[in-house]
Amino acid sequence: MSKIVVIPGDGIGKEITESAVEVLKTVDKKLNLDLEYEFHDAGGTAYDKFGVPLPDETLEACKKADAVLFGAVGGNKWDNVKAELRPERAILGLRKGLGLYANLRPVKVVDSLVGNSPLKPELVKGVDLVIVRELVGGIYFGDRCESEIKDGAERAWDLENYSVPEIERITKLAFETAKIRRGKLTSVDKANVLATSRLWRRTVTKIAENFNDVELNHLYVDNCAMQLCVNPKQFDVIVTGNLFGDILSDEAAVIGGSIGLMPSASIGELTSLYEPIHGSAPDIAGKGIANPMGTILSAAMLLRYSLHAEEAAKAIESAIDQTLADGFRTADIYSDGFKKIGTEQATQEICSRI
Ligand code: IPM
Ligand code: MG
Repeated sequence: MSKIVVIPGDGIGKEITESAVEVLKTVDKKLNLDLEYEFHDAGGTAYDKFGVPLPDETLEACKKADAVLFGAVGGNKWDNVKAELRPERAILGLRKGLGLYANLRPVKVVDSLVGNSPLKPELVKGVDLVIVRELVGGIYFGDRCESEIKDGAERAWDLENYSVPEIERITKLAFETAKIRRGKLTSVDKANVLATSRLWRRTVTKIAENFNDVELNHLYVDNCAMQLCVNPKQFDVIVTGNLFGDILSDEAAVIGGSIGLMPSASIGELTSLYEPIHGSAPDIAGKGIANPMGTILSAAMLLRYSLHAEEAAKAIESAIDQTLADGFRTADIYSDGFKKIGTEQATQEICSRI
């Protein structure tokens, strides 16, 4: 038996995780995976119930589970909540609490969606890259000051810092990832300005000595942001720090036409966590129109990496490809001539193709 902790979170989190669990149950029935589910609160929903965004009980349950499936957190309802109690603290606390140091964000453009991309089809067709984002360090977790008076003016600050061991472990994972793909790694930093980036570049270059079969290049983050639009096919694996990875992965996500399709895996020493890269979309929450595919593809990654159920992962991925190839589109990727579906019908179409 494998236990999956499901954390729906806020906004559309509830409907998209429900959908992913239904797909997991379908594939379980077919391939006898023996999955069990336990639901827990986090985010604004948990704040409303318990006064904290990440109850201890949720973190403890995650530690004991075989894998975590996470929806999304946040919403303007909690805009005025104190910084340390904001819904986003839930996912940050889970990342830290579970030691999820590596976030894998694959961007693979499905042929049937090439026309949805804001980029020209010839630039986009065949894009297959993965961003490996450091997830528990950098400016996200450095010291900060919300407000202080200095020289008569109010200021705030956040500290970016990285240690060599932190850079080493994410770099090794990125090299290992590149090795079993097309053997190309791009390390992204801002070494022309930042001290942390210079340490990053030195450390990555050193690790490269152990991976002769992988071709390494370095890009500044501003140039990388441009290259992702100009020639995304040049990338195989991109490794970068927490903040740059956050920004670049949203940018890379639209190459394929919709952020609603993008899954992610956060890998650590304990339980790994899987979540779509989009947010809680409070404006469409409860309307039954959210695209559940990013979450369902995250569930496929969960089966692959945490449960080593490759066949089940592939079954889900090809069911999604089929659903799209058959012309079904949720609102975020809909255009004239296609069949418009909501969250529930998308789930049914995918389940029926497994
Ligand atoms: C992401 C999100 C989070 C982040 C937010 C919700 C804290 O944007 O997973 O990319 O910035 O890491
Ligand atoms: Mg983000």
